[in-house]
Amino acid sequence: MIQNANRQIRLKQRPDGIAGPDNFEEAVEPLRQPEDGELLVESIYLSIDPAMRVWIDENPGYVPAVEIGSVMRAGGVGRVLESRVPGFAPGDYIQGRLGWQTHPTITAEGTHKLDLSLGSLEDWIGPLGTTALTAWFGIRDVGALSADDFVLVSGAAGGVGQMAGQFAKLEGCRVVGVAGGPEKCRYLTDELNFDAAIDYKAEADLATAVASAFPEGVDLFFDNVGGEILEAALLHLRSKGRIVMCGRISQTAAEERYGVTNTGLLIGKRARMQGFIVSDYNGRYDEARQWISKKLKSGELKQRLHVLDGLEAAPDGLSMLFRSQNTGKLVVKVADA
Ligand SMILES: NC(=O)c1ccc[n+]([C@@H]2O[C@H](COP(=O)([O-])OP(=O)(O)OC[C@H]3O[C@@H](n4cnc5c(N)ncnc54)[C@H](OP(=O)(O)O)[C@@H]3O)[C@@H](O)[C@H]2O)c1
Repeated sequence: MIQNANRQIRLKQRPDGIAGPDNFEEAVEPLRQPEDGELLVESIYLSIDPAMRVWIDENPGYVPAVEIGSVMRAGGVGRVLESRVPGFAPGDYIQGRLGWQTHPTITAEGTHKLDLSLGSLEDWIGPLGTTALTAWFGIRDVGALSADDFVLVSGAAGGVGQMAGQFAKLEGCRVVGVAGGPEKCRYLTDELNFDAAIDYKAEADLATAVASAFPEGVDLFFDNVGGEILEAALLHLRSKGRIVMCGRISQTAAEERYGVTNTGLLIGKRARMQGFIVSDYNGRYDEARQWISKKLKSGELKQRLHVLDGLEAAPDGLSMLFRSQNTGKLVVKVADA
């Protein structure tokens, strides 16, 4: 039975520091029937991403800001309830820009049908979703991963980091992850087969910890965090080393930013540091998903999902990312499949 209300979470005010429930408000609207070119969808899983904190700033830089009073922008997976788009029918499962709402009416642009032979709905919001694709294109294409690389990954127990590290392990690299706390570090070494893990919360000196993990230096640093770990990795980067600038969560909501001083070392090391946005690769998502699906089915690749219950959990979920309270790719479950 189709409910007749669309519950939404809208941006109420822009944050200072970490964003959370105070920055959002709930609203309820009647369902909007789709017009030509549109789909009415029931959201099942919605994503919670660190980038959302950037999107609700006044000037995010690379995408338009979410306007005050608008539904919070979010990707997700859902089920088509009504379709005015050729090729989509009620009952189809889709991935698209659903926003934080239970029953969005969306255009077909940026929406695609899920091929459930590749993985389950949970796989599609997790290891087949854009968080995992970020790791895939970031470490392989931007990072030019090769089998003999010594690879350091920060934010290693999170959604992107655990995939980036596993992709490098599957290639045959020596991989060390940086994560907060003994439980996350044990997860990396015991369950994901990382060669070692650095607990950045317990280490007095990150530069020394990186040096002892990689006495010969780091070839490839996949950075989700920025700040002090970036400083340490720059110091221990090998000649022709690469730094993939995926994210800088330690700086995104920080009151005071860490001043990285070691960038000059890139010159003598003939090294490079490069940023990217996953959507740069959206023409190649299928290629990555085919590969990931095979590795999921063979059991060589895992991803831990952290599932929050109910749309209303989303705003607090956003703050959890910045407080190290998530264990794996963070999503909200809005409805049963
Ligand atoms: N370039 C792109 O296209 C793209 C796309 C998606 C995501 N990203 C970036 O990728 C990174 C990871 O995203 P995700 O979705 O996978 O999130 P996530 O890693 O699952 O969650 C965030 C994690 O960041 C760590 N963290 C938070 N504050 C920190 C701090 N001050 N210092 C060190 N670590 C801190 C926490 O892990 P600990 O418990 O280990 O502290 C937390 O669990 C983010 O920087 C995000 O912006 C980039």
